[in-house]
Amino acid sequence: MGMQIAPSILSADFANLEREIVKVDTADWLHVDVMDGHFVPNLTLGLPVLERIAEVSPMPIDAHLMIENPDHWAPRYAEAGATSVTFHYEAANDPKAIARDLRKLGARASVALKPGTPVDAIMDDLAEFDMVLVMTVEPGFGGQEFMPDMMDKVRALRHASNEAGRNLWIQTDGGIARDTIETVARAGGDIFVAGSAVYKAEDPAAEVDTLRSLAAAAVAHD
Ligand code: DX5
Ligand code: ZN
Repeated sequence: MGMQIAPSILSADFANLEREIVKVDTADWLHVDVMDGHFVPNLTLGLPVLERIAEVSPMPIDAHLMIENPDHWAPRYAEAGATSVTFHYEAANDPKAIARDLRKLGARASVALKPGTPVDAIMDDLAEFDMVLVMTVEPGFGGQEFMPDMMDKVRALRHASNEAGRNLWIQTDGGIARDTIETVARAGGDIFVAGSAVYKAEDPAAEVDTLRSLAAAAVAHD
């Protein structure tokens, strides 16, 4: 798998979701941010909306659950049509059990780390996950500034994945744009969420391709 781009519909026009989704059909995934107003101070959408999004989207759904009690809810999102389900380590009671439930349902299992959560929290359990999401902003809102300090986590994960002879997908989310994506790619990131960078672009589909090319070129020169 090469570099992958997952536009976040958090920056899309929520009154015209289907049209907004089709606008980014050059993407590898569609990133859907589920927020419950408790785990993060913002509220977005839940199961019934995600289910319809999955039905109309030409891209597979990458669900990012910023919610409490993912032990109960994460598998429900796989059943609703998400191909990849990311839950937050900080909210989970038993991360390994959630990952196993997700894989049993045929979904990709992914765990997310807030900026303040050290990568050591999951290092011993990496085999349970298909992807790790390293948040590069505090979760909750789009349009925030990228945190370059998080690249140490990306590097540590890529190193651990290589040591284990695996191809763990490493996702970053928050402030990913033309001026930050190369830094992440060089650190070992390979799947990039971009909300405002894509949806505020004049041609969102072309912006997806531009971002993917920048990431690929950043590692090709190494
Ligand atoms: C923030 C969300 C992100 C958000 C990113 O909590 O998880 O997916 O949409 O937005 P940008 O790309 O604008 O930082
Ligand atoms: Zn997200």
